[in-house]
Amino acid sequence: MVVASSPGKLILLGEHAVVYGRPAVAVAVDLRLRVEARLSGVCRVNGYPMDWRYHSYMVKSMERHWSGPPLDVITGGELPPGSGLGSSAALTSAFNLCLMEMSGEHDEKELARRSYGVELAIQSNASPIDTSTVTHGQGIMVSPEREEGHLWSLSRGDTEWHVHHCQVPELSLVIGNTGVHAPTGPLVAKVRRFYESNAFAKEVVDEIGQITREGLVCLRHNDVTRLGELMTRDHRLLAILGVSSPELDKLVEASLPHSYGAKLTGAGGGGSMVALTDDPGRVAAVIRRRGGTPYVVRTGVPGTMLEV
Ligand code: MEV
Repeated sequence: MVVASSPGKLILLGEHAVVYGRPAVAVAVDLRLRVEARLSGVCRVNGYPMDWRYHSYMVKSMERHWSGPPLDVITGGELPPGSGLGSSAALTSAFNLCLMEMSGEHDEKELARRSYGVELAIQSNASPIDTSTVTHGQGIMVSPEREEGHLWSLSRGDTEWHVHHCQVPELSLVIGNTGVHAPTGPLVAKVRRFYESNAFAKEVVDEIGQITREGLVCLRHNDVTRLGELMTRDHRLLAILGVSSPELDKLVEASLPHSYGAKLTGAGGGGSMVALTDDPGRVAAVIRRRGGTPYVVRTGVPGTMLEV
């Protein structure tokens, strides 16, 4: 039997714009997803037959990267599914690490490549930010150029992303899950239609790229005040792109009086927001009062790894 786990991910700045080659920065958080896999006579997931309709990331991973006997898989952990925190990337990366381990392979870069390939096969517009963050852990920066701290490069068609390790200080973050499930693919497609038909949308995407660059400087100098302002500005820009929602806006606005800044994180439409604050208890309380589920999270956590 092999057991692997992956962290959840939070995009601090740059989601959606990263799809068009702008920089983005994301951190791994200490909500983990676990996958246990053992050789078996029949493919099962949590006691049910493995089925494309419910287990597409695992079916695709096995199609591409497994030629052994059927597997019995158990999944679990604290990472809420469909919440904008990278649960499908975490599942894909942890499951592929199990497959690699059972084949005697060990290579983080190859794991990142496989995980992105599987995610791309299922959500045809994805950038590698989610799978790379959960695979590497800590913090990552994705940019169109190769820079210091380069880990790997991945591409889709003509777009190439360079993924870098990003040193992130210990940040005090509170996630607010709206409980509204909004699949990533249609949101990315919605932004693409706007981006391809409207010059203003390109300006918004450019500004997200600029504030992400400034945010990287803030991270380097541990300037949480300015970083928070940039996060709030990013939320407003993402709202202009049409990916916020009344539930997200409500949790962001409720958190702001007690935070340096707050924004939706991930694809939006529902899912989660994140607040940067030095009063996590208070922010968690206001999120709960407004109908969200709060998680006070820790950063600086490892990426996908084998569990003993
Ligand atoms: C989703 O977590 C992040 C998006 O930028 C999509 C992607 O980069 O694949 C919205």
